[in-house]
Amino acid sequence: MHPSGRLAFRRQVRSPRADALPLYEAHGRALSWEGILPPGDGPLECEIGCGKGGFLLAAASSRPGIRFLGVEAGPSYAAYCADRLARRGLRNAVLVADDARLFLADTVPPGAFVRIHVYYPDPWPKRRHRKRRFFQPGIAPLLHHALATGGELLIATDATAYFGEILALMGASPLFRRDPEREAELGLEVPGLAFGPTNFSAKSRAAGEPAWRAVYRALPANPEEDDRR
Ligand SMILES: C[S@@+](CC[C@H](N)C(=O)[O-])C[C@H]1O[C@@H](n2cnc3c(N)ncnc32)[C@H](O)[C@@H]1O
Repeated sequence: MHPSGRLAFRRQVRSPRADALPLYEAHGRALSWEGILPPGDGPLECEIGCGKGGFLLAAASSRPGIRFLGVEAGPSYAAYCADRLARRGLRNAVLVADDARLFLADTVPPGAFVRIHVYYPDPWPKRRHRKRRFFQPGIAPLLHHALATGGELLIATDATAYFGEILALMGASPLFRRDPEREAELGLEVPGLAFGPTNFSAKSRAAGEPAWRAVYRALPANPEEDDRR
């Protein structure tokens, strides 16, 4: 059994349009890493839980030298995002329809991403649903494995209690340090680079909800690595 518990996301049926789109669907198995990458040799960034794809589209169009992987557990959202990318002719981004916790664990090689974005992750406020959350014990090592040393993890949410729990989880990890200077530099949103635009950020702003933001930097797994530089 995988540490994320249920494998429900991987039991989804194949989308009939998948072959025509920049869309890779995991079906109870790990995808081939080399087989899913956008063409080119630009640095890789990942967005986890891209929903309708507002951020991924803005990022891929404003930063053509970067290659993006959007990981979305909902197959219909993943297909919708992939369709939006295809319609815009954006070739530097692809969608992976998978549970990001499994994807990070069994498909992504060490240090693959220079940046990972997680915007408005589902807070699952009921205690019995907590194990469905993306941020839960064990997530920091998975994120650290996927990030290059010095790489950034960017998080945005309006769920105050969940944000507190994310800070506690990440703060307890020796693998990351929070970067307040970077947070101050980025502010609430730098479109296509940090925190948005996303469908949920727009709805949350319109409703006057709080906007919580955090940036973490991946530290060397072995602190002596720092001394050798
Ligand atoms: C609240 S929505 C936010 C969507 C988008 N980031 C936004 O801000 O508009 C959360 C998204 O995360 C996806 N999601 C939830 N758990 C996930 C997981 N383990 N792996 C990948 N995506 C996940 C959901 O399917 C949903 O589309």
